[in-house]
Amino acid sequence: MIKKCLFPAAGYGTRFLPATKAIPKEMLPVLTKPLLQYGVEEAISAGCDTMAIVTSKYKKAIEDHFDTNTDIEKSISGSSKEILLTEVNSMIEHCTFSYTRQVEMKGLGHAILTGQTLIGNEPFAVILADDLCDNIDVSVLSQMTSLHEKYPDCCIVAIEEIPEKDTNKYGVISGEKITDNIFRVNDMVEKPEPKDAPSNLAIIGRYILTPEIFEVIKTTKPGKGGEIQITDALMTLAKEGKVLAYKFDGKRFDCGSVDGFVEATNYFYNKG
Ligand code: UTP
Repeated sequence: MIKKCLFPAAGYGTRFLPATKAIPKEMLPVLTKPLLQYGVEEAISAGCDTMAIVTSKYKKAIEDHFDTNTDIEKSISGSSKEILLTEVNSMIEHCTFSYTRQVEMKGLGHAILTGQTLIGNEPFAVILADDLCDNIDVSVLSQMTSLHEKYPDCCIVAIEEIPEKDTNKYGVISGEKITDNIFRVNDMVEKPEPKDAPSNLAIIGRYILTPEIFEVIKTTKPGKGGEIQITDALMTLAKEGKVLAYKFDGKRFDCGSVDGFVEATNYFYNKG
């Protein structure tokens, strides 16, 4: 059973400047809730109780958010606003939050390796909080942890179909179909131009990884953009048949982009 969820949250969030100059991208709110809090909610729904967060020196607000704020609590105590902190306070009470800092932003693969010290030697989930997911019943991560129980030796990446013109924004896979929504991956390419893309199946920010990945990342050379890419590390395991891609049920918003962020805000506002 997967208990730990890793949140790589050290990136600069340059697409959201100037907002992200002093505020971490992961703390930008959709309505009144920061993106990272939605992510923690999803991790809890999948049975995780340990949140391992990779931060940086610019991201102190994240640690403060998952801690008590006695001044605010005192000021709203006994008022109708008390309820606004119930959810995050319950997270603080029931989960462990631990942090480590990525000192140089060398890419997502490197951020995940930085988290090894918090994860240890067990399978774990990864949530990129800027990919905000919503579901009617079972959360995307929950769907993936159930699949992991069937395939405990495999890493799993969540995928969705994207317009062909957008392949250069994602890791793109191809694979052999096991069922309508599960593929055994045999190729993955980071941000290919549409003409070089192996398919239009893009990896989104949800992963289940086996601890084997850490050793693989250590030997993975910088790839696209000079960064250590998780896609390249996973490709090494895919060659051994150890990576599955899962077409999830639900909606995903790319809140790392302004368009996706606005779309998510409208969606959650209308959902009420
Ligand atoms: P992104 O590439 O979407 O985030 O990385 P970014 O680099 O912060 O955004 P832009 O492109 O400059 O606007 C996906 C996730 O990986 C984390 C980011 O924080 C984000 O959650 N990440 C990325 C790290 O933790 N470390 C890195 O070195 C790179």
